[in-house]
Amino acid sequence: MNTLIRKRHEAILTWLDVAAEKIKKALHDELEVEQKTNPSDLVTNVDKDIEQFLINQIKMTFPKSQILGEEGYGDRTIDLNHGTVWIIDPIDGTLNFVKQKENFAIMIAVYDEGQAIQSYIYNVMNSELVYAIKGEGAYCNNQLIKTPDNLDMHEGLYASSSIFYIGSEPLNEFHHNLSKLALGVRLKGSAGLEAIELAKGNTVGYTAHTLMPWDVAAGKLIIEEVGCVITTFAGDEPSLNGKESIIMGTPKAHRTLLSTLEQLHMNHNIC
Ligand code: IPD
Ligand code: CA
Ligand code: CA
Repeated sequence: MNTLIRKRHEAILTWLDVAAEKIKKALHDELEVEQKTNPSDLVTNVDKDIEQFLINQIKMTFPKSQILGEEGYGDRTIDLNHGTVWIIDPIDGTLNFVKQKENFAIMIAVYDEGQAIQSYIYNVMNSELVYAIKGEGAYCNNQLIKTPDNLDMHEGLYASSSIFYIGSEPLNEFHHNLSKLALGVRLKGSAGLEAIELAKGNTVGYTAHTLMPWDVAAGKLIIEEVGCVITTFAGDEPSLNGKESIIMGTPKAHRTLLSTLEQLHMNHNIC
């Protein structure tokens, strides 16, 4: 870790601890919940507070950074390919946060000149921190995560976003076909926690419909550092430029998912 990465790393660990304490404390009070685009797309006062807290800390410590935050407290526009860009999801899994009070994560990714350099996913209620540093691997509570076995879909568990169950055609058909390839299906309700499941080898593949850059940015580096693969449904590297449908998997499972999408002619239809 060079000096800059070390400085950012130590700062992020401190901020994550403070943010986690704020979230746990806020859970004792009544949440202020607002609907965004639909009844399952929620934002709370805590999402907003945590994003503002993280952005204030970043701006004070690294004033030249650009910041993209889900709740809109960051910069209006960012240029991912120039300078340092921070991408923040203050609570990934807000519906879980509201309904379960667990199974959510704080996510932070840092890009330099368009390259993911470090990323963090903190499962607050489990005190489980997974982070990755470019070229240095991914760690779960400071233990290096071993590259998961390169299992294919028929040898493992598959995860997806719930839209594939409750959406209309062709999403239902898509989900049915992919689910049949695996030994079983598991759903977490948080793209970040799904990235962790894959990195640990608990699942072999995950597909998600129209994720935003903050849903994908932190998980992407973790997935790549453990030797797994992440692309769009069209097989391209995620651009983090807007909504993208995403496949993550072991190299074998990713290939199977991608080729199945191609056979179903769905790789372009539902991106
Ligand atoms: C959501 C979660 C969920 C995914 C949604 C995301 P949020 O993030 O990651 O798993 O299916 O598309 O929007 O809104 O809870 O931060
Ligand atoms: Ca999210
Ligand atoms: Ca969020």
